[in-house]
Amino acid sequence: MNTLKEQFQTDFIIGAAVNKYTDQSEQELLKQHFNSITAENEMKFENLQPEKGKYTFDVADQFVAFAQGNDMKMRGHTLVWHNQTPDWFFLDDDGNDVSREELLARMKEHIFTVVSRYKGKIHAWDVVNEAVLDEGDDLYRQSKWLNIIGEDFIDYAFHYAHEADPDATLFYNDYNESDPVKRVKIYQLVKGLLDRGVPIHGIGLQAHWNLYQPSIKDIKQSIESYAELGLKIHITELDVSMFSFEDERKDVTSPTKEMLYLQAERYQQFFKVFHSYRDVIESVTFWGISDAYTWLSDFPVVGRKNWPFLFDESGNTKPAFDRVISVKDNC
Ligand code: G3I
Repeated sequence: MNTLKEQFQTDFIIGAAVNKYTDQSEQELLKQHFNSITAENEMKFENLQPEKGKYTFDVADQFVAFAQGNDMKMRGHTLVWHNQTPDWFFLDDDGNDVSREELLARMKEHIFTVVSRYKGKIHAWDVVNEAVLDEGDDLYRQSKWLNIIGEDFIDYAFHYAHEADPDATLFYNDYNESDPVKRVKIYQLVKGLLDRGVPIHGIGLQAHWNLYQPSIKDIKQSIESYAELGLKIHITELDVSMFSFEDERKDVTSPTKEMLYLQAERYQQFFKVFHSYRDVIESVTFWGISDAYTWLSDFPVVGRKNWPFLFDESGNTKPAFDRVISVKDNC
């Protein structure tokens, strides 16, 4: 049996998200099939600096060492995000919002500390995550970053990351990246950064997709549109949920044959697209390893299981695995 990384070695890097629950058997799958990892949570702000000035690097360090020890790349996720950033970061001692200058100083300190520590060891940093608003006319999502600093918080984040490690590859990362309305906004945001000379080198397409959405046409249009900007493209958080966004069923306890078939078909279509854009797509990362653990088992329906990957809960290959592998056998 060919492994994922061997099968796609002339196309792109194949990655997976790891977390503190990743066990020995999943580590074996990682070594066998993947040549890149991303920390699902452990490099986020609240994990690295839970209290002011008190950094906790233990788990992140272990992941970086694992990547280095197994000849894998590591994506850094993420430096500036509205989520998973502790409240204290935005507040002064009296509990009021800090000033723009103070927040920029804190942002710089965090970015410098983290990026410098892993200098030369991170293949690409997701510098800013999910800053674009999904619906409506506004470009930017409301957040403490936006409210306190203003729209240029994004420019500053990239400049600081670049100063901390001039050789680092810097990405803007977002979800719903294939939605026709949001695609235009993401394009506009990144184009603005480039026009202002901000050091950005890539766009991350999270690719949290499902059996029905988005359409292949929308995915292709998004890749083409982002590629026009001349930046690298990474698929950063790929998973294929068995449920549509609107499906609120709570009683499905195992995947049906039909679900597994449809999922295999979708995965094959996605990898055909990735293969056809291999000149611009440098890396494809799954947001997990096997169906044993996925954030989707709690989202959007709390406690409902989901089975979004190529390996089942025991680490065995699923129909989707064979169909993904077949993409390269047939070309
Ligand atoms: O670590 C604590 C644990 O100590 C505690 O017992 C438990 C109780 O709920 O919570 C644990 O924290 C959870 C954490 O994941 C680690 O498992 C949080 O509640 C939970 O909210 C958090 O969810 C993560 C989510 O980001 C937070 O926004 C998901 O695992 C992670 O997959 C998800 O990843 C994001 C990307 O970073 C950005 N793109 C979207 C993607 C999916 O939402």
